Amino acid sequence: MSEPRSAAAERGREAGTSAGLPVVGIVGGGQLARMTHQAAISLGQSLRVLAASPGDSAAQVAHDVVIGDHTRYADLAGFAAGCTVLTFDHEHVPSEHVRALAAAGHTVYPAADALLYAQDKRAMRERLSALGLPVPEWTPVGSAADLTRFAEKVGWPVVLKAVRGGYDGRGVWPVSAPEQAVRLLESGVPLIAERRVPLRRELAALVARSPYGQGAAWPVVQTVQRDGICVEVLAPAPGLDPDLAASAERLALTVAGELGVVGVLAVELFETDAGLLVNELATRPHNSGHWTIEGSRTSQFEQHLRAVLDYPLGVTAMTAPAVAMANVFGGPAEAAGAPGLDERLHHLAARWPAVKVHLYGKAPRPGRKIGHVTALGTDPGRVRADAAAAAGHLTGGQQR
Ligand SMILES: Nc1ncnc2c1ncn2[C@@H]1O[C@H](COP(=O)(O)OP(=O)(O)OP(=O)(O)O)[C@@H](O)[C@H]1O
Ligand SMILES: [Mg+2]
Repeated sequence: MSEPRSAAAERGREAGTSAGLPVVGIVGGGQLARMTHQAAISLGQSLRVLAASPGDSAAQVAHDVVIGDHTRYADLAGFAAGCTVLTFDHEHVPSEHVRALAAAGHTVYPAADALLYAQDKRAMRERLSALGLPVPEWTPVGSAADLTRFAEKVGWPVVLKAVRGGYDGRGVWPVSAPEQAVRLLESGVPLIAERRVPLRRELAALVARSPYGQGAAWPVVQTVQRDGICVEVLAPAPGLDPDLAASAERLALTVAGELGVVGVLAVELFETDAGLLVNELATRPHNSGHWTIEGSRTSQFEQHLRAVLDYPLGVTAMTAPAVAMANVFGGPAEAAGAPGLDERLHHLAARWPAVKVHLYGKAPRPGRKIGHVTALGTDPGRVRADAAAAAGHLTGGQQR
């Protein structure tokens, strides 16, 4: 049940917004919060941010910042006190805290029961399997014997994954023999093993769902990873069979509905010769949806806000036939005399005037995701080449 609009506005007034609009609090001050803040401005709001430090990406730009620890209940509860609704920049808030916040009367989206499936890969695999949705063959593993038994069934190599806490490929280990997993298995980290899926490519289906139950889907995209990290997103996924695209959208809306997700849900998918498999879920704006800032009538960040506020959702039509996003990473240690970021940005603006740049205010350490660029056009090959070249240029001449 969402609260009446007037009550939300009343709490907004108490929280001190001049227009009496609701206050959205976001836990985490990363780039997702930063871009959500950007969308909040147009809705007459200023995102309230619980950041770990004043230098965090979103803390640099939002005016309403609380510094605190997202793993401490007291910090979360203090932060929630002035918010109409609470949402997340990441999935690292302990479930019991999310549950306790809701029990204390705070509106939290997504709720703990939905957030769990983005936090815990085992719970996610179990739930999707129970719903009859397609996932790679998998099993929990606690010993070398478990691992060997599973690999003898599905074939080496297999992919070991930390049940919790992985991101950007950290927490994912392909292994070809049990000896390679000894240290991991002994570490006590809860693990699952999956069949290494023969991929045609990776896709993502991005949807949003409101408490009212309204759902909206963006066109299915292709994501390109290097070393387990997303480097490019192509919208719509080039050459995707329309039936497969429709079934991916339906699948994502089904997952959102069944899991009771409120806000944006990204469903990472593997496309195989035998159809689609779900890889992973994220119950928040996602890297695979950054292209929507310019490439869709409603960005994933605005849509996430609309959803958690129980506003009607925005139109998800594309603004151009083809859109490509490329992530920008910190380049190799800067050589003396090499052009700095400002100079590279200047050059990018001259060379690719149609490319849009988003920098996250993060120090460019080698390999760190510090921004992204987006190109729009009519030719999928052209926009992909432009985005990759512009991102590579910002990286410092060496794309990851
Ligand atoms: N079962 C599998 N078979 C083949 N490749 C896989 C498999 N599982 C993962 N991968 C590869 O590893 C990448 C990262 O895996 P996954 O999405 O599970 O990890 P993550 O670190 O949690 O990712 P994210 O950065 O999306 O949070 C996938 O995008 C895919 O390229
Ligand atoms: Mg992933």
